[in-house]
Amino acid sequence: MIKKIIRFKDVSSTQDTAKRFLKSNEEVAITSLRQTHGKGRQGKSWFSPFGGLYLSLLLFPRARVTSIPLLASLTVVKVLENYDFSKLTIRWPNDVLLNHRKICGIICEQCEKAVICGIGLNVNIDKFTTKLDSATSLKIESGHDFDINEVLNQVIGTFNPLYNELQNEGLRIKEVLHYIGGIGESVELITAQTRIKGTVYDIDDDWALLLRDDSGMIRKYYCGEVKQMRW
Ligand code: BTN
Repeated sequence: MIKKIIRFKDVSSTQDTAKRFLKSNEEVAITSLRQTHGKGRQGKSWFSPFGGLYLSLLLFPRARVTSIPLLASLTVVKVLENYDFSKLTIRWPNDVLLNHRKICGIICEQCEKAVICGIGLNVNIDKFTTKLDSATSLKIESGHDFDINEVLNQVIGTFNPLYNELQNEGLRIKEVLHYIGGIGESVELITAQTRIKGTVYDIDDDWALLLRDDSGMIRKYYCGEVKQMRW
């Protein structure tokens, strides 16, 4: 349960800053107004100018570590619904899309007993580089600015009870499945080793992607990036 938020103006990456607090054994949130070297998944960088929410949750989960990224996506979806946004989907494994564009990215790193869950939410960003043309922000979608501090408090306030529930009872996967887009769609799954084309058959209870290849064989994948989805 996150009870403390530690704020910075400018850091390299809140993921790295969070590592400095590992020894405290306390669950805390680290946030910064911008990042000079924001980290994305699979070695990519994360565009981190002023105007975004950059948050790393330092957690010491007792159980169900693998569901934490999913929990973070569900948290963001619930917060954005509170702000009256609809057309929200979770793209496996844990991107949040608004109107089919990426509004939030999540990365989880395991460090000893801890999990550092990084959430990057595009709040008041006016425009993205051409390389990031599939990204969007709350401001672009709504036409107005948001109070980032209020968004932060909502994220923590929504995450905490879900995290308690996850630790005590497990996540009700059915609730999450409601937000999943892309079942039945043709996709390409890109992993560190290979690229696999297929159709999304389902997401199962341990949050693995079930992909059906051209021969009809269904295989299970725990990580990778899904491309070419028309969500
Ligand atoms: C992705 O979609 O590739 C994941 C992006 C995660 C970005 C967040 S921003 C806060 C935290 N600090 C980082 O350097 N990265 C994560």
